[in-house]
Amino acid sequence: MSNPKSVFIAIDGIDGVGKSTQIAFLSDLLTDRGHRCLLTRDPGSTEIGKRLRELLLESDLTMNRRTEAMLFMASRCEMVETTIRPALRDGISVISDRFLLANVVYQSIGDSHAPGVDPSLLWELGGLANGGLRPDLTVLLDMPAARSMERIEGPRDRMEARGEAYMERVRQAFLEQLPKASEATVVVNADQPVEAVSAELKSAVLEQLAQYG
Ligand code: TMP
Repeated sequence: MSNPKSVFIAIDGIDGVGKSTQIAFLSDLLTDRGHRCLLTRDPGSTEIGKRLRELLLESDLTMNRRTEAMLFMASRCEMVETTIRPALRDGISVISDRFLLANVVYQSIGDSHAPGVDPSLLWELGGLANGGLRPDLTVLLDMPAARSMERIEGPRDRMEARGEAYMERVRQAFLEQLPKASEATVVVNADQPVEAVSAELKSAVLEQLAQYG
């Protein structure tokens, strides 16, 4: 059997939605179908990305949404150029834990201290930072924020600490902005038992792969 064409899939959703479990499942699914797979994490995956991740999520530095947006973009720029593009060029499929869509939705929601950034501006800046690279497929794991927030264990990071009302606005922004994230997009209902989420994810991904060739 010849190696399947490499594919770039991004998985996203609000905090606490169960991405890690479904990413592991998806990686096994692609591997079983003959793909070589690379998992990336946005922000993270590169040394610069890991340091920016600490600054962005684990520090208590205050910053406005534009600063935040640019730092997330810088991390992604490095990850795209040093990790994702080379893998895709080598025929390796990439599954990214979040991508530009997350940047557009999280940084577009403001509050009384920090106004949100216009989503269209974030798409434009993001395209520049990524050198135009878009996922072939974006999967959105969807669940009400009231349900996802109760699943978060341990201390909350900067985003999680913004609370349920912020997260529900992020969720709505995800649903609204998803069609702009890539050529193919799919919403998977994450508010059901884990096996049912995986089954829904599997049929959506296999359907897309069949169309992709
Ligand atoms: P996670 O890796 O555990 O999903 O955490 C990443 C957090 O950072 C999550 O709350 C989403 C947020 N985020 C942004 O605010 N902007 C971005 O561009 C990305 C990639 C993530």
